[in-house]
Amino acid sequence: MEILHVSAECYPVAKAGGLGDVVGALPKYQQDAGHQAKVVMPMYRTKFLYNNDFDVVHKGYTNIGDYFFDYTIIKEKTNKLGFGLYLVDINGLLDREKIYGYDDDVQRFTAFQVCVVDWIASWQFKPDVVHVHDYHAGLIPFMMQHCYRYNALASIPTVLTIHNAQYQGWMTWEQSTLLPPYDDWKRGMLEWGNSINPLASAIKCASKVTTVSNSYLDELKYMSNGLEALFEYEKGKCVGILNGIDTQVWNPETDTYIKHDFSLATVEEGKAKNKAQLCETFGLDVNKPLFVFIGRLVGEKAADLLPNVIGDSFYYIGRRMNFLILGSGEPDVEARLNGMMPLSQNDYSCYIGYNEGLSHLMYAGADFLLMPSRVEPCGLNQMYSMRYGTVPLVRNTGGLRDTVKDIAEENGYGLVFNNASVGDVCNAVWRACDLYSDKSLFTKARAQMMQLDFSWETSVQQYLALYQSLR
Ligand code: ADP
Ligand code: GLC
Repeated sequence: MEILHVSAECYPVAKAGGLGDVVGALPKYQQDAGHQAKVVMPMYRTKFLYNNDFDVVHKGYTNIGDYFFDYTIIKEKTNKLGFGLYLVDINGLLDREKIYGYDDDVQRFTAFQVCVVDWIASWQFKPDVVHVHDYHAGLIPFMMQHCYRYNALASIPTVLTIHNAQYQGWMTWEQSTLLPPYDDWKRGMLEWGNSINPLASAIKCASKVTTVSNSYLDELKYMSNGLEALFEYEKGKCVGILNGIDTQVWNPETDTYIKHDFSLATVEEGKAKNKAQLCETFGLDVNKPLFVFIGRLVGEKAADLLPNVIGDSFYYIGRRMNFLILGSGEPDVEARLNGMMPLSQNDYSCYIGYNEGLSHLMYAGADFLLMPSRVEPCGLNQMYSMRYGTVPLVRNTGGLRDTVKDIAEENGYGLVFNNASVGDVCNAVWRACDLYSDKSLFTKARAQMMQLDFSWETSVQQYLALYQSLR
């Protein structure tokens, strides 16, 4: 089959979070399974762009409303990511340093999507399925089905994968003129809650909808930032497919970001060396268990709890552990985490910012990973951490619920709690300290986690079966 993925992110080209990881991996494994997978994404000004060679494969001319522009599709020459990578270049709109966060993001991502559809319309042989990811590509199923210009694409099946339903890409009705012409009576297929809602539109128009874990799909029916009724109504075409991890990139035996690689057989000394490097860099005490948090410092991740979790753990459990935080996000959380630095007694530090290499070292060197997420559609951190022998402390939600089994259960290995509250997280920290001091139990949990299979193979087959059902 020929599968075209449309996404705003793709690792290692441009990544802000897990969406990038998934779109950088799934197509590679689909290709390995004997299919032709392609990714098309915006051409941002990234290192990857400047360090690789590209061919021009298409030049076009189109518009969003009154704004007419030329666009170019370039393709990375060697398929070095394991699949065909295509970038959409729109002068002045997409060629910027950041992925998101500009005032004209609506114009940028609408133009991107119009170009993608315009480009597909020029293909002699059309793809078997167009697979769109999150709201940034959410207007594509509508455009393919309802915009006259692209009538020829109406019969191509489309799949929407929802990585995060919190962000829906709302647009005003004035902005509807950015879309190619369509019959006005079709506007219901764009609308949710009196505005244009690209995610809701994709849920309505796509042939099938997937979410990145089963538990998240269940949760969306009662907690999806206003889309609850829509998920209930469209439940017949929704299915949960758990993400995998890229076991080539995330492999403690070959990880190029870390100096001290290790395997199951050498986990003890391997992790000790990585921990020593981390503790030396951040002024932490190597003899105490090391708890880390890696991620966006936002409400969804319950990052706002971290300052109090750290303070209360030190106060009630005692200064028996280290905390190290890597992330960026809400300014007040960043400020509070930074503000705690002078209070450290060689047991707390943070790095505010994005640092791919440091994240790998932290998965490798930490003893425990904190993930108190309020919402976690799948979560990749906990799977990376388990592969690197780091015990995750997770809230019982979404993909965390589907991937982590509490140590108190038969064959359990992680620590699971119910509420995103300071009390629940501190209680889990306390349980983790206990586990850390029980050497044989800790070693057993570690070995068990490292052998879990989080590879993409099963999920790739589920996606393929889904595509096949649409032909
Ligand atoms: P989300 O996509 O919701 O942020 P995921 O758990 O799916 O959450 O994926 C997060 C990805 O982003 C992981 O690869 C994680 O290591 C990475 N990441 C998040 N924040 C940072 C950061 N500040 N520096 C480096 N990597 C980060
Ligand atoms: C989103 C979700 C995260 C998921 C990732 C990849 O960013 O927040 O839980 O793992 O997408 O699907």
